[in-house]
Amino acid sequence: MTKIPAFAGAAALAALAALALAAPGTLAQAPPPPPADPHEWWKHEVIYEIYPRSFADTNDDGIGDLNGITSKLDYLQELGVGAIWITPCFPSPQVDFGYDVSDYEQIDPMYGTLANFDRLVAEGKKRGIRVILDLVVNHTSDQHKWFQESRSSKGSPKRDWYIWRDGKADGQPPNNWLALFGTPAWKLDPATGQYYYHFFYPEQPDLNWRNPEVEKAILDVSRYWYERGAAGFRLDAVDTLYEDPKLRDNPVVAGTDKFGRPKHDEIYDRRLPEVHDALKKLRKVADEHGAVLVGETWTSDIAELKRYYGNGDEVQLPMNFMFAMVNALSAPAFRKQIALIEEAGVWPVYVIGNHDIVRSWNRYGDGINNDAIAKVLASLYLTLRGTPVMYYGEELGMENNDPKTQDEVKDPIGVLGWPVEKGRDGERTPMQWDARQHAGFSRVKPWLPVPASARKRNVGVETADPASILNLYKRLLALRRSNEALREGEYVPLVPDDPNVLAYLRRTKGSAVLVALNMSASLPTLRDPLAGQGLKATTGRVLLGTTLAANQTIPLDAIPLRPFEVVIADVGPGR
Ligand code: GLC
Ligand code: CA
Repeated sequence: MTKIPAFAGAAALAALAALALAAPGTLAQAPPPPPADPHEWWKHEVIYEIYPRSFADTNDDGIGDLNGITSKLDYLQELGVGAIWITPCFPSPQVDFGYDVSDYEQIDPMYGTLANFDRLVAEGKKRGIRVILDLVVNHTSDQHKWFQESRSSKGSPKRDWYIWRDGKADGQPPNNWLALFGTPAWKLDPATGQYYYHFFYPEQPDLNWRNPEVEKAILDVSRYWYERGAAGFRLDAVDTLYEDPKLRDNPVVAGTDKFGRPKHDEIYDRRLPEVHDALKKLRKVADEHGAVLVGETWTSDIAELKRYYGNGDEVQLPMNFMFAMVNALSAPAFRKQIALIEEAGVWPVYVIGNHDIVRSWNRYGDGINNDAIAKVLASLYLTLRGTPVMYYGEELGMENNDPKTQDEVKDPIGVLGWPVEKGRDGERTPMQWDARQHAGFSRVKPWLPVPASARKRNVGVETADPASILNLYKRLLALRRSNEALREGEYVPLVPDDPNVLAYLRRTKGSAVLVALNMSASLPTLRDPLAGQGLKATTGRVLLGTTLAANQTIPLDAIPLRPFEVVIADVGPGR
């Protein structure tokens, strides 16, 4: 197992030492941050996203909890992940299922206690699993005491912590901005007769990041959790932190959105450059604690993506979702996305699903070969150069389970947008542990229903089936850890014009691994894929395959592939 970076204890000792050395009467200089962990664990480990409501319920309320996560750490260790990212588990009225935080320094009683959190961290540490939390700081809940104070009067010391404005002369909202979740972006608050701004639901008022007190409060929140043992944060919705100070109207463009509203070119309420100053400050605190920042940085614009890395002083892992934007299995489409990221010269992050998008099993599946396709996708994002972020249940091939009627919908966007927008419930259903009722997630009816397919598709059944998606994930994760080329090697694209097969090499000076993924139902033969690569091997040794057995020797001049076949082979110089 890799070394866990030194946390708060070491930083505190360094601070004391610096104080002791300072000459009397002079101000001690802040100690320099500890050198970056040379191993940079986050470059080598797989991060596993957990939606805590849906992972494991231990107190029989149909909702998952922190003790549930702790109880599944052995499973996660066996799976082979090095960190879990838990979506918000802080006190919250749950309008946006935790993304509306009403207290940043507590655990929601529905999920447990701070002591449960401490135990999760400690038990995780024993198993080499770090805990990453979700920092939701574009907005708070409208029930947060900061907002309660802010809304109480125009003269409140917290008034400027949020974005308050008078309406226009005719009483209309201050500008034409639209909230992402289908409502106007401004809500009139009767207490003071002013509007407040919210990019998401009205219950999620935006913080005013231009106020230094807000910035300080958030940096303190991050410090608080690092000192409690969090290994980092996923930063929610980073591109929405700042708004145009003049609140100019966004230009209206042709077309309507899924809620039937006129489309806007969001130049004044999103992606403002000031976010990079905020990220640098968050990173500085993270560096002081050896922590990692994972950004929610939805973009396919490579220049924009690169900006999130800064000069190595911003987000280590900006999640770009460039794979999730490819909506069908296509070798040329994935090849292109990888090339864009590789050319950017940054440390890549690969994601195929999360709690906001339809499950990958459905999104890439063709309705017939979904399991085989899920294996191809797994073999892709887990063998590329970069950090993969998995979504719970992806390793089982969990399917989306959309609500069947509007009354069943829990996610407010689905209520508002039905039936065009069904909301995100479908991708958030309970983890499927075994064949019992409610998939072994809970002894009572869970907050969202499990699909009928859970009886066959669950950890119990798949553990016992050597050909399951779960066992493929385990093999892939073990291989990533043990194989030098997969861990450290560069990415070399092969067969650049092949319409069906995505093939590449991962290679270091001393090792080379060929990955060949047939992304089609046809029977292509890969001819001489290594031509021109200066490798001496004429045969390869299978490391992992969906048809071929491990250690089998394959000739490299012609590799016939079955539909959706995966071949990963050692083609290194030692052969
Ligand atoms: C992010 C989260 C999403 C949430 C939104 C508002 O996009 O991933 O689930 O609704 O932020 O916080
Ligand atoms: Ca529970």
